Amino acid sequence: MPKTRRILITSALPYANGHIHLGHLVEYIQTDIFARFQRLCGNQAIYLCADDTHGTAIMIRAQTENRTEQELIASMRDAHLADFEGFQITFDHYGSTNSVENRSLCNHVWQSLRKQDFVAQREVSQLFDTKAGIFLADRFVRGGCPRCQATDQYGDSCEVCGATYSPAELTKPISTISGTAPEIRKAEHLFVILEKLRPFLKTWTQESGALNSKISNYLAGHFLSEPLRDWDISRPAPYFGFEIPDAPGHYWYVWFDAPIGYIATTEQWAKKNGGSFADWWCSEDKNHPRAEIHHFIGKDITYFHTLFWPAMLQIAGMNLPTKVRVHGFLTVNGQKMSKSRGTFLLARSYLDHLNPAALRYYYATKLSGGIDDIDLNLEEFTTKVNTDLIGKFINLASRTARWLKETGLSPTYPDDGGLFAQAAADGESIASAYESCDFARAMRLIMQAADRANQYVDNEQPWKLAKQGPQEQQRLQDVATVSLNLFRQLVVYLTPVLPKLADDVAKLVGDPITDWQQSQTPLENLPVSTFRPLMNRIESTQIDALLAASTNTLSTSQGDTVTETSHTTGTEPGEPIQDSAEALESDPLAETCTIDDFSKVDLRVARVIHAEEVPEARKLLKLTVSLGGDDRRTIFAGIKKFHQPEDLCGRLVVIVANLAPRQMKFGLSEGMAVAASGAGAEGVYLLSPDSGALPGMRIG
Ligand code: 2FM
Ligand code: ZN
Repeated sequence: MPKTRRILITSALPYANGHIHLGHLVEYIQTDIFARFQRLCGNQAIYLCADDTHGTAIMIRAQTENRTEQELIASMRDAHLADFEGFQITFDHYGSTNSVENRSLCNHVWQSLRKQDFVAQREVSQLFDTKAGIFLADRFVRGGCPRCQATDQYGDSCEVCGATYSPAELTKPISTISGTAPEIRKAEHLFVILEKLRPFLKTWTQESGALNSKISNYLAGHFLSEPLRDWDISRPAPYFGFEIPDAPGHYWYVWFDAPIGYIATTEQWAKKNGGSFADWWCSEDKNHPRAEIHHFIGKDITYFHTLFWPAMLQIAGMNLPTKVRVHGFLTVNGQKMSKSRGTFLLARSYLDHLNPAALRYYYATKLSGGIDDIDLNLEEFTTKVNTDLIGKFINLASRTARWLKETGLSPTYPDDGGLFAQAAADGESIASAYESCDFARAMRLIMQAADRANQYVDNEQPWKLAKQGPQEQQRLQDVATVSLNLFRQLVVYLTPVLPKLADDVAKLVGDPITDWQQSQTPLENLPVSTFRPLMNRIESTQIDALLAASTNTLSTSQGDTVTETSHTTGTEPGEPIQDSAEALESDPLAETCTIDDFSKVDLRVARVIHAEEVPEARKLLKLTVSLGGDDRRTIFAGIKKFHQPEDLCGRLVVIVANLAPRQMKFGLSEGMAVAASGAGAEGVYLLSPDSGALPGMRIG
């Protein structure tokens, strides 16, 4: 049995209906670093990815652009591949879910589901756009909330009161595709009965070691403690996807065929490199030690990868993921990426103005293997790159390599007071930090070693030795040999993060970096070529250019989840007050109620004492509010798009305190935070009492 590990590594497959942005790159850079680290350690690591090509959004976009889906996905594939290449993200294979291999593997999994009686069929009522001729997915319909009557809400949940519902329950629904009122139609759908696998999923999510404990606990608390709902796995025609062979007119839902795309991409890779997907996904293959499977994903798709996906693999008799590595989202300067702030940063715009190595390094310093969001603070980015990466690390080479051009490295490695050995000993900790995806710790250890090396150069002052004539030339060669070796040792450690730099340094000393163990032995007696600058400092003009380009791409970029609303800032003294009538006109007053009616609603002041995102919900924040004393409530509020959890803590809000508790998908909601909305604006504005109000006070 070979000593090396066999590791199959994936990133989530990007949708083929949008361009790659810097948020996506948190994942692809992270995965690429992990894969490169594994290869450098001598493991057989294959990094696979593919475009996720199916679904209604792609079908509609192709129609709007007046081209076929095939044309759309082909051009998006080219764009994705160019962006990945620009960031030095190297896949062993990049496939597509729209492939013959994927169709056949979907069928294979499907047959297993059928044979083992995991498929049920039943009728579903869904809104149908009669003009466009399609059934409407939740996000293609808007209308009035069935609970609080707020207008212009999404088809699955209300951003004002947090209610979740089916689109058919909306009042006055409108299709966002044709702008017409849809009608309810019935269609047969196929479902996977997940509940039968709950015991297996409980054990796998809690005990296999595949998930970090925050994710295991979240799944145990939110999904696995009650019966699992059947999973709606089919969509009626028209749909861009694979038609289900034994159910003509029905297509597998995109989230069925997307993860199977991981296996199909393995099969395509295996066709080129020998073997088959089974070598990686089926343990019964006796010729191979069992492969590890590591999925890197964002926290918003946890549910698919930790419940549906293992369930399907289990039913199909395939290997389960060894690790599902979940990461957080990217914020830019502390806020969600936003088109109107010019911080919706596309990979292409970045590459037009900045060095990809800078972002790879910066992300590495921020990623610690957890699910917290990471922030791209553009000032910190500039400082970290200029001060640490260039000032501290790259400078080690530029300060010393030139002294070796004539002489090359000393014949034997000189006495360095134990510096090389010290950094060599760090190798184990740095490797274990990479292994656990705590790249931030690896970068800290490397920069500490760079500090020690710089201290050595400062003490030895080679520039003075160079001026002192032939008697000091031996000493100069030795000092420069030590410095360049200390630099190169760190380059080995940084190779997974900065592969191009590693190649450039290999040219300097004629020794390619292919093995982690090269960090353990200094180089001796080798020629050194002319030193060329390895990296340039970031100038503020480059950042300005990136931001300007991002403002310019507003109309063409895809997938921004944040839409800003403009806020009026009030009036100048003496200016007549004239507010728009739009809010009232678009949402006329309700019928008269009596004071008794009103007093049935118990509105109270409450203080937000904790706020957190609900990773699986696009719109919800989970608030813990205090009504004073020990009275605490949990409230799910549809305000995620407009409020950062950290901004809410400590703030006073108004809640409906006697609203009957409501069981939502994510937990029990014990009240409602009162907010204003409407007038065609997207915003949701939480109400706050004037200062002086205290938690528990009644409003009325
Ligand atoms: O969320 C997304 O962007 C999906 N396209 C990810 C799919 S990952 C996998 F399951 F294919
Ligand atoms: Zn509502």
